[in-house]
Amino acid sequence: MDKDALEPDDSPWLQRRGWRGFRLKESRQTLIRRHAVSSLTFDSPAKINLFLAVTGRRADGFHDLVSVVAPLAWGDTLTIESASDFTLECSEESVPPDGTNLVLKAAEAFRRVTGYRGGARFNLVKRIPMGAGLGGGSSNAATTLKALNQLAGHLLSPSALAEVAAEIGSDCPFFLEPRPVTMRGRGEQLEPMSEAGSQRLRGRRVLLFKPAFGISTPWAYAQMAATAPASYLPAAEAEERLNRWLRSGEPAERLLFNNMETPAFRKFPALPALTELLRTRFGLAVGMSGSGSACFALLPERVPMHEIEKMIRDAWGESAFVHHTHLE
Ligand code: C5P
Repeated sequence: MDKDALEPDDSPWLQRRGWRGFRLKESRQTLIRRHAVSSLTFDSPAKINLFLAVTGRRADGFHDLVSVVAPLAWGDTLTIESASDFTLECSEESVPPDGTNLVLKAAEAFRRVTGYRGGARFNLVKRIPMGAGLGGGSSNAATTLKALNQLAGHLLSPSALAEVAAEIGSDCPFFLEPRPVTMRGRGEQLEPMSEAGSQRLRGRRVLLFKPAFGISTPWAYAQMAATAPASYLPAAEAEERLNRWLRSGEPAERLLFNNMETPAFRKFPALPALTELLRTRFGLAVGMSGSGSACFALLPERVPMHEIEKMIRDAWGESAFVHHTHLE
């Protein structure tokens, strides 16, 4: 306790006993407010799609999908501090600090919906590569909404927050409460995965690897539409496949599926060349996340990490991104 925060307490109760006492100069509430942490820090995790079936095109131009998505124990970090305006500092130079960034877009959406007059200074430590299918931008936007809502004193209910998130990006609502889910609709309908299913995902070690190039999500979906209907997996088949895995008790390896690999692998042969090598040489279960270009391998207990990493670097060069983490 800071001595300056105290003053002599001459209350009769103490004097009667001949004791010298001290009391707080300010009320406890004022002190708490004055010493309150002025900035809040949030994890903004990445995700992978262990199962992704694009099932068809909708009237609004988006695609319907059935997907199993799980958060990773790794990602970006967002710090928020009360300020008069919305500003963003980012560790990554290529992230524009203007209104085209998803952090500031989310902040503006929050202001529009709530009428909130305050501002915030955001600091984003960026680790999730862009154009990867790891959900970096959506995660940043959802984390911004969560952080602002806390700063503003919970102006929005969880469901109102989810509605704002869905307007920003299809998989944005997932990141408001990241946990293993089945995603439907265009990505905004979330069903928490059963305990039996989650148990087979939680804690699984994952190796992420991404070539230097990224894949644009709109491009990938446009390719799905251009090669329809062969590119789609009918919804009933997708549900049946997923249910079979949920009922079976089989490990996560048996769940992997992604029909967005077809256009990505056609345009970028470096992707299937390496995933096939990792499968045959190390027996790994390998998939692409979302619309790519990041891929991942589910790692068994004992695995020759150095040899695997060397194979990735030999195939994709030193500029490839490689990171070892696990499912949250
Ligand atoms: O919603 P998000 O910003 O992630 O979507 C980017 C683009 O990807 C959309 O404009 C749309 O072209 C496509 N997309 C889609 N169906 C989805 C999600 C995204 O067609 N379910």
